[in-house]
Amino acid sequence: MSTPTPSSPAPAETTAATAPGSTAATGPAAAGSDAVELTADPTWWRQAVVYQIYPRSFADGSGDGIGDLRGIISRIPYLRRLGVDAVWLSPFYPSALADGGYDVDDYRDVDPRIGTLEEFDEMSRALHEAGIRLIVDIVPNHSSNRHAWFREALAAGPGSPERERYIFRDGLGEHGELPPADWTSAFGGPAWTRVEDGQWYLHTFAREQPDFNWDHPEVREDFLTTLRFWSDRGVDGFRVDVAQCLAKHLAEDLPSSAELAEMPQDGTHPLVDRDEVHEIYAEWRRVFEEYTPPRTAVAEAWVSSPERRAKYASPRGLGQAFNFDLLTADFEADAFRRIVTDNLRQSATTGSSSTWVLSNHDVVRHATRYGLPPLQGREVKQGAEWIIAGGPEEGIDRELGLRRARAATLFELALPGSAYLYQGEELGLHEVAEIPDEQRQDPAFWRTTAEDRSFDGLGRDGTRVPLPWTREGSSFGFGTDGAHLPQPAWFADVSVEAEDGDPASTLTLYREALRLRRTLQGAEELTWDEEHSTGDVLALVRPGGWTSITNFGDAPVPLPAGEVLLSSAPLEDGPDGAPLLPGATTAWLRR
Ligand code: NOJ
Repeated sequence: MSTPTPSSPAPAETTAATAPGSTAATGPAAAGSDAVELTADPTWWRQAVVYQIYPRSFADGSGDGIGDLRGIISRIPYLRRLGVDAVWLSPFYPSALADGGYDVDDYRDVDPRIGTLEEFDEMSRALHEAGIRLIVDIVPNHSSNRHAWFREALAAGPGSPERERYIFRDGLGEHGELPPADWTSAFGGPAWTRVEDGQWYLHTFAREQPDFNWDHPEVREDFLTTLRFWSDRGVDGFRVDVAQCLAKHLAEDLPSSAELAEMPQDGTHPLVDRDEVHEIYAEWRRVFEEYTPPRTAVAEAWVSSPERRAKYASPRGLGQAFNFDLLTADFEADAFRRIVTDNLRQSATTGSSSTWVLSNHDVVRHATRYGLPPLQGREVKQGAEWIIAGGPEEGIDRELGLRRARAATLFELALPGSAYLYQGEELGLHEVAEIPDEQRQDPAFWRTTAEDRSFDGLGRDGTRVPLPWTREGSSFGFGTDGAHLPQPAWFADVSVEAEDGDPASTLTLYREALRLRRTLQGAEELTWDEEHSTGDVLALVRPGGWTSITNFGDAPVPLPAGEVLLSSAPLEDGPDGAPLLPGATTAWLRR
């Protein structure tokens, strides 16, 4: 490839989301063994790269096939070398695993299969010494049916104060034999379950996940205690599960599901995104502010518009909210540009920073998603807040999917705001489709019918298969005694061992991208380079001339002049020797 010649960018439209006092992300300065001093910077989260760990599938230190805190501790050097600013731990609490740990028995303990509180403290300390912050998942909409309060509620019977902490109702019909309403749970099947004495309780998700009554002062108080419990143990922030569902208004006569579906989700809906939910988060904010730096939070809130989402990101509330728009979009220049512009504008109005997500534990990995036929209408099962699109083997172009995924990741990492990465995406992992039915764990698989599953979806287990660390060995180095979900033979070639040191590997690309991002990241500003953003191409410029250009199409296009810092695939030589940006490729330049 010939050496590109310098020229000046042609900026036009500027989309800025700069908050006063915001700075580049701070975190581990360099890979190595020396302890890193974390700063008290209250804005550390604004442009952080956060790595999501699904604890049961990350690394198994005890050899029982289930990932654990020991495993995480042993992999901190890996996380540090990767260059992330924070980790977010999905639930690690005691749980019967009816929903992968999102059914919590005790909010202030660690599942004995995963570790102990002492190990949690050790992990928190070790992460901090490596310059990595710690965010934990908090699940406030529902507990598990094994939670002490739910057991007390069952024992105490109808009309008791113990039942008031949950949502119990008498049934309809002559003997109360019909549910109080015909609502469907997010995992399929009824949203009301009858208990022995004849009453029914509400569960938005699995029947093992009874919804709390957030009008109850003890529920409110107990979560404040939980927030302090983990904050006192050094947790830096919280990821708030189904943040939009806590506040509910259940009148005497419940609406039917058809009526519910017709109701606007504008703050007045009985079950979703009610305005008063923000009173809860204002209380949480007061707890966050008791600490230095203040604890942070990010809302998982599937709501009807970016405007509604902004309320969760208010600095008087949780402070940040997931934006899942990229994750539900096809790999298209127009879609990506619209999403970025809208979300930066939105975050500028709240004073928050935007968030970007391409994969997580609920959706098909983006390397696979981008190899499927265009998503269009049938792509997502969004109402239920996860995407089921596992898809049949035919129709998947895995090579193209990974190529696009690498390009999309570089695009994402060039944006202002925080990037949430999901474990294994740095290896370019594909979704694992080949899990025998009898080994599947996801209630979304077991409780929906084949007809219900969009695109022959297989549920969420395929994105939760334990990570491959080595080419060989029991469970590819995940642990010493197998893995709780079966790993496919092709994991050998995408293991950390196989990719480490390979200049062409996805792991090397992520490491290099995160290293560069740390040096390039400046104010939260983005300018579209109109001259080069045409057709299938999108070029953006960040302060200091950091340019990211993505070719979403198939045919190569000329690369703007500048110093090439990184590209998601090798560049090509044009006929005149000038470099070309091939299809499905992103390049970072300094201009
Ligand atoms: C969202 C979580 O991400 C998902 O995994 C879980 O099943 C539901 N909330 C219910 O807690």
